[in-house]
Amino acid sequence: MERCDVLGRCSEEPARLTRPFASNAMRRAYGHVMSWMREAGMSIRQDNIGNLRGRYEGAPGSDSTLILGSHLDSVRDAGKYDGPLGVMVALAAVQRLHDTTSRLPFAVEVVGFADEEGLRYGTTYLGSSALAGAFHAADLERADADGVTMADAVRGFGGNPQRIDDDQWSGGKLLGYCEFHLEQGPVLEAKGLPVGVVSAIAGQSRYQLTFTGEAAHAGTTPMAHRKDALVAASVFVETVDAYAAGQEGLVATVGQLTVYPGAANVVPGEVTLSLDVRHPDDTERRLAAERLIDIAGQTGKHRSIAVTTNPISDNPTVSCSTRLTTLLEQAIKDLGVKPMQLASGAGHDAVVMAGLADVAMLFVRCKGGISHNPAESVTEDDVAVAIDVLGKFLELLATER
Ligand code: GLV
Ligand code: MN
Ligand code: MN
Repeated sequence: MERCDVLGRCSEEPARLTRPFASNAMRRAYGHVMSWMREAGMSIRQDNIGNLRGRYEGAPGSDSTLILGSHLDSVRDAGKYDGPLGVMVALAAVQRLHDTTSRLPFAVEVVGFADEEGLRYGTTYLGSSALAGAFHAADLERADADGVTMADAVRGFGGNPQRIDDDQWSGGKLLGYCEFHLEQGPVLEAKGLPVGVVSAIAGQSRYQLTFTGEAAHAGTTPMAHRKDALVAASVFVETVDAYAAGQEGLVATVGQLTVYPGAANVVPGEVTLSLDVRHPDDTERRLAAERLIDIAGQTGKHRSIAVTTNPISDNPTVSCSTRLTTLLEQAIKDLGVKPMQLASGAGHDAVVMAGLADVAMLFVRCKGGISHNPAESVTEDDVAVAIDVLGKFLELLATER
């Protein structure tokens, strides 16, 4: 809990937690995590995309690895547990092994992923994509809000953007990837349970839409002559909300909107906005996204506003491994806690890691279901349960071996 507090102070903004990919705040956070990894007897390296990878070797002769991890980047004005909690729980479990000089019949690699939220480049899962061999090299050309390309950001953070392929897992047999995370929803709290096992993670599509009208003088341009990009975009935002509200299982969000040129006395000439669409069923999600993009075009057309769409990412729904999930449930039962399965509406690095290995996730109850908000909160007791579950899970996996 104290470590999450320490990381929560590593921010690009003084009054709130904002820790984007490859930032100075991330570098400071890594300094702390590296010292904790060292304390837990791990060898450490930072790969090209910027993931922090700590390795605790297995017993002599062991030839396989279990990856544990979560992300160390954050959204803007974030809570301090989304991401770091999973890395801290993994470190605590490894620390216990180290303290008792225990070696498992497999190595444990703890990964702090460099980017999951996509705050800086709009993309999601940069870190896990590199590790899973699913990184899109074309993304290196993307520029952030200050015009810094991803390639330059990678270089500035100590990586070689030409060598991201080298980050792909090459350490031999993998037993799986296991991620602990706060729930970010209200289910466990409602059930009175400290932890739950994730059954599946809902797919998500992200787009950037640009509404282009014509900037004009706010005092002299008659209403009937305007091509106001913001008015069209606003109508679209409202439609997105109403459309998703009317479809079972669908959630859709416009979370970012930029108005150009952005002055009180100028009719907005251009608006860019983000669109995030999620549904547990991939076909439903894609259909809804197509429909919303179509609606955006029509909304613009009625007002002589051109609308262009740039797809940013598309991640399918991912099921967690039955084998690992059963072991997690067994670990929970062995601790005398009632096991419960729940689906994740939030995206996680496990989505991309599923392309590399079997994945499993454990959720920790969070207060009021609130996340992506500084009010994010977990209790020390629940985190203790999570660390015990992970310890038990490692034991069970070792026995299974
Ligand atoms: C990650 O937090 C996401 O689900 O957007
Ligand atoms: Mn998040
Ligand atoms: Mn997260």
